[in-house]
Amino acid sequence: MTRILGIDIGGSGMKAAVVDVVSGEIVSDKHRIDTPKPATPEAMGEVAAALVDHFEWKGPVGVGFPGVIQNGFVRTAANLHKSWVDIDGDALFTKACGCDVVMVNDADAAGLAEVKFGAGAGVGGVVILATLGTGIGSAIFTDGKLVPNSEFGHLMMGGKIAEERASSRAKDDNDMSYKEWGGELEEFLQEMEKLFWPNLFILGGGISKSFHKFEEHLSKVRTPVKPAERLNRAGIVGAALAAT
Ligand code: BGC
Repeated sequence: MTRILGIDIGGSGMKAAVVDVVSGEIVSDKHRIDTPKPATPEAMGEVAAALVDHFEWKGPVGVGFPGVIQNGFVRTAANLHKSWVDIDGDALFTKACGCDVVMVNDADAAGLAEVKFGAGAGVGGVVILATLGTGIGSAIFTDGKLVPNSEFGHLMMGGKIAEERASSRAKDDNDMSYKEWGGELEEFLQEMEKLFWPNLFILGGGISKSFHKFEEHLSKVRTPVKPAERLNRAGIVGAALAAT
């Protein structure tokens, strides 16, 4: 099976496309439906089913979810409805979609795509990807192998969780300039650097498109830092990879 439907769940939208998992390319149109409010399991199951219907899809489906996923069970859902916690997400979406669904943490998904096909391809040792969006997601790899469900966005930094200071939502909510926000991000990366001594940081999320605007404010970080190459495609491609 070389084609898998990837779905990337975000706080505002649920996006899907068919992915060729051998080339890592999206081979269909991308279809997006707003994330329902409130973002309950039932309502989101219906949206996932509508996405599957849009593609008249019958094969396997990989879903990137913004929370910890342990053996298909959702363990956290910081930016969605709290009734997700401890639900068997694989089973719920499999039933709703009528297809075999595998869930994976959204940042782990993006990391899988970047390490296999993007900025981390061929890089040995420890690689850390951080997605900067509504929250901060993270994925850590050693020699290309994922250690799932790292939650570095929830590290404490000066009495606050990191994603409240260095996510792109924190930048918008607090009206920070790239210089101010870059300082917060620099501190977050330094914190991870002290703990894991990676060979490479990859930054994902929509704001990584503007990497040139904040790169200079990360000068105290010793580890090389690169923007993700696949930007918002990585979540969909990686979700599909997780279902292989
Ligand atoms: C969640 C992570 C997720 C990240 C990005 C965080 O709040 O705890 O699991 O990867 O947001 O969506």
